[in-house]
Amino acid sequence: MQKKEIKIAPSILAADWTNLGAEFKKIEDEGADWAHIDIMDGHFVPNIAFSPDMVKALRKVSNLVFDVHLMISEPMKYIKIFADAGADVITIHHEAMENPEEAIDYIHSLGKLAGVSVKPGTDVGLVMPYLEKVDLVLIMTVEPGFGGQSYIEEMNKKIAKAKQMIDSVGKDIYLEVDGGVTPDNILMPTQNGANVIVAGSAIFRAEDAGAVIKKMRETTK
Ligand code: DX5
Ligand code: ZN
Repeated sequence: MQKKEIKIAPSILAADWTNLGAEFKKIEDEGADWAHIDIMDGHFVPNIAFSPDMVKALRKVSNLVFDVHLMISEPMKYIKIFADAGADVITIHHEAMENPEEAIDYIHSLGKLAGVSVKPGTDVGLVMPYLEKVDLVLIMTVEPGFGGQSYIEEMNKKIAKAKQMIDSVGKDIYLEVDGGVTPDNILMPTQNGANVIVAGSAIFRAEDAGAVIKKMRETTK
């Protein structure tokens, strides 16, 4: 079973950081479903972004589902902090932990949805042993760390494999993609089964963010 409706999750990494509150309001008004918030520690990925206090501040100005993507080496240390800051969905990286199940259980104990993400070089089959526990699988369609990269088309196969795995489990699990998605290539992930679409540059760097969100929704109908 798979969630049918497509969710659009603008990644605020590409937003105007001098005006974040207004950027959140803009995407909410323009029909985004979730706000994708990238957390980077300069260790798991070669970049640094967003702190728990920023998430807490933004929580006050937004009603969107906060989709927090932890690209950090020691997720167990920060899961509760981000849960308390206002995250609704917390996604860790499979590669960041020897036992990702531990993090999934911990996220659930805090009453949040739990996701697991795989980098482009990681076999999504490795998630199968604990797939039943997760609420979301995130397939990275670029190397994590930076916005504005090109969608890696070889990931289409991996998305399709993840979809098969999810169907075999028979549980409603979100299948999310992150990196390089635009209205022009959105059918690649969605036709392979993705139902949560992260897009940073395509939405925030456009003159009319609302038109891009609308186009993405219409293209995938
Ligand atoms: C990359 C991040 C993405 C990024 C996507 O490490 O996880 O969320 O912001 O940005 P675009 O859509 O510009 O590739
Ligand atoms: Zn992300």
